[in-house]
Amino acid sequence: MIKSASKIEEDLDSSRQELPDRIKYLYSSNEMSSSKAQAPLTASVLDESLSSCEDYPSTPVDEKEKPAYDQENCDPSINAITDSVQENVPEKREPMEERQGMEILFGEDISNGKELLWLPNDTNKVFHTNTGIIGTMGTGKTQFTKSIITQLYRDQAHNFDGSPLGILIFDYKGDYNESKEDFIVATNAKVLKPYHLPFNPLALTKAKVFKPLLPIHTANAFKDTLSKVYGLGAKQQNTLFSCITQAYTAKGIKAGDPSTWGNIPPTFDMVYNIYLNDEEIKKTDSLAAAMEKLHQFEVFEGDPTKTLSLFDLLKGVVVVDLSGYDSDIQNLIVAITLDLFYSQMQASGSSKMDHQYRQLTKLILVDEADNFMSEEFPALKKILKEGREFGVGTILSTQFLKHFGTSDDDYAKYILTWVVHNVADA
Ligand SMILES: Nc1ncnc2c1ncn2[C@@H]1O[C@H](COP(=O)(O)OP(=O)(O)O)[C@@H](O)[C@H]1O
Ligand SMILES: [Mg+2]
Repeated sequence: MIKSASKIEEDLDSSRQELPDRIKYLYSSNEMSSSKAQAPLTASVLDESLSSCEDYPSTPVDEKEKPAYDQENCDPSINAITDSVQENVPEKREPMEERQGMEILFGEDISNGKELLWLPNDTNKVFHTNTGIIGTMGTGKTQFTKSIITQLYRDQAHNFDGSPLGILIFDYKGDYNESKEDFIVATNAKVLKPYHLPFNPLALTKAKVFKPLLPIHTANAFKDTLSKVYGLGAKQQNTLFSCITQAYTAKGIKAGDPSTWGNIPPTFDMVYNIYLNDEEIKKTDSLAAAMEKLHQFEVFEGDPTKTLSLFDLLKGVVVVDLSGYDSDIQNLIVAITLDLFYSQMQASGSSKMDHQYRQLTKLILVDEADNFMSEEFPALKKILKEGREFGVGTILSTQFLKHFGTSDDDYAKYILTWVVHNVADA
């Protein structure tokens, strides 16, 4: 049964009380159908955190009468991203000097018909950009998410300082890959496969604040990540750690000598070869299985000169297409990417700010994020917690509120903007 917006609002009362200082925004999908011809985006604002904007006329929502893509009004409804886009230049709604900060159209306020805008640069409205989207299957989460990304991409000229944005999407279901050509064209997205991934988990990222023994820390982090995904025991962990440190040594990188840390780092292939050629290592355990699998699937680029730092790679929209891969490979890639993301985020320094406007730098987006969240990647909570200062935000979409956790230190605690479609458990 489809609930009315007022019923959902009522149902959400309890969760609203639990989340007193968050943006409470009700995104009603009660008129949704599979027909593109209807389903206007309707919404009620439950507090002031999102602005209705007088400047933008509320668009008639009869899609039949609409031109393909209305640049003036930047309607995020389905046509805005499914119709072809003539050029990949981010579009502006009005001259730069007249508007500070990006404006993302979330929908329409059903109480007064005005457009509902999300202002991610304006810290008076949105203190940080961590966002949760919930709604049962088929309520338009993916469509909404694609609309947000497309709008962010198009409006990045209004980012603080006009800084370009990097948007990283972990795509578990193949909703954002080449099979969705309209999205790829609209956002000029780059799709990476878990094959020869062009970033190196063993690359050394120098932090703003000097960290002694950086190669040891990096080796240790990679070892921890592999160990968690493949459930390695203490002895296997030692073996792996030793292979990684030998690989650094082979590249002339000495843990105690920072002047050597700029050398070309080893790749996973090198670690694998050291492992393989060490006759003292028994190769019948879960470490062997893990090493073999990563080697067979050629997950990481073997040529270090073809790798970039993750942040250098992360320009524009970058999709890591995980669809169709075993969950261990998916988890490993996500864990490693988040580890790299976290260390590079810290190394990048604080994002710029002027008055209430903060520069947005990178965003991480995960649709169908239930497995992603239940894996408890250590870097994820740190990114959610500390990202704001670096202009980093995370958008997580899933079917149930409970996926955001129920404990004190759950994900929900770090989410400020909520977009609630028709839900079963709120
Ligand atoms: N605003 C909208 N207007 C019209 N159709 C929509 C809209 N949002 C979603 N749809 C359609 O509804 C269906 C389900 O949407 P989807 O975004 O895949 O839902 P979810 O991700 O929540 O499962 C899709 O066919 C989609 O094209
Ligand atoms: Mg979906």
